[in-house]
Amino acid sequence: MFEIVAPGSTIALVLVLSSLLLTVTLMNPYSKKWNPRGLHCYVTGGSAGLGLALAVILAKKGAHVSIVARDEEKLRIALEEVEKARQNPEQILKSYSYSLTEAQAAEDALKAACEPHGGKAPDAIFLCAGTARLGYFVEQTPESLQNGMNISYWISAYTALAYTKRIVQEKKPGKIIFVSSVMGYMSFVGYTTYSPAKHALRGLAETLRSELLLYKSSVHICFPCTIYSPGYIEENKTKPPITLKIEETDDGQTPEQVAEGLFRGIQNGNFHITTALVGSIFRCSTRGATPRNNPLLDAVYGLIGHIGLPIWRRSVDATVKAHREDHQKYLRGRGILT
Ligand SMILES: *[C@@H]1O[C@H](CO)[C@@H](O)[C@H](O)[C@H]1NC(C)=O
Ligand SMILES: *[C@@H]1O[C@H](CO)[C@@H](O)[C@H](O)[C@H]1NC(C)=O
Repeated sequence: MFEIVAPGSTIALVLVLSSLLLTVTLMNPYSKKWNPRGLHCYVTGGSAGLGLALAVILAKKGAHVSIVARDEEKLRIALEEVEKARQNPEQILKSYSYSLTEAQAAEDALKAACEPHGGKAPDAIFLCAGTARLGYFVEQTPESLQNGMNISYWISAYTALAYTKRIVQEKKPGKIIFVSSVMGYMSFVGYTTYSPAKHALRGLAETLRSELLLYKSSVHICFPCTIYSPGYIEENKTKPPITLKIEETDDGQTPEQVAEGLFRGIQNGNFHITTALVGSIFRCSTRGATPRNNPLLDAVYGLIGHIGLPIWRRSVDATVKAHREDHQKYLRGRGILT
């Protein structure tokens, strides 16, 4: 997302340690990786971006895949993509058009997707649906704040709720994968309608990781950085100039890269999944009692954060302060200041 300043020796240490730990991880004969072959995976936001990239990976691994999204035309094209990844004729690949910000629609969509599977709940749900509309707080309305929670929090919470009720009834171990963002670990100017919802998803995931142990079910949550997706191009249009400036040095990832990283994280049984270095640094700088992915490597990321993040934050604050005058002009231009 941005450049982190770290002394060369720290980087060298990270490289040495990570290769060491990677070797140990790869050689671990006891790790049993999650394999979606023959399982039913339900993907919200499956018509584009990360959701579609995940659906394709899951189909390639031999899973039954249901994708859900609002736009029927986009869904039709997306399903063709997923079909191309088909491995065998038994795979059930389907799409469902629903607007998941309504609780009832979230329930109905899930019910519809269960039907081709004898009414049984999916084995895993991937909650990728969501969008961002950015802007200055002073320009928001009660409705736009509420809309931010609808399109980034409730859209996933309702489906998680409907799914949990089903797996508990069926006494079936389930799997829920949430998609937050590095903006669910921290935030800065421009993200008031988005970051709170992404933080809220973390709260929900942390609670469910604990509570769903009651049902032998697992929970994961992914914190990607910038994803170069169709959603990002829309989001970019509503980004305040100062936010664009702070993110100038951003290195994004393609939906496919994030999907690969997310899938690997699930296979490794990671609860918090980060797909880029910056994400891992934030993850390890705000971990609380969250399970670690790798005790040694996470300590190193934490150390980099301990040194690098205050430096980064100071530079962001300086950028914001330097923007005060331009911002006054902006406010006058928008008729907010008279
Ligand atoms: C948010 O979702 C709720 C429940 O569907 C709805 O009543 C409300 O109007 C939505 N708010 C906005 C601003 O879209
Ligand atoms: C984002 O928006 C800014 C300003 O409108 C523009 O300069 C930039 O090229 C856009 N980037 C992308 C990836 O669309």
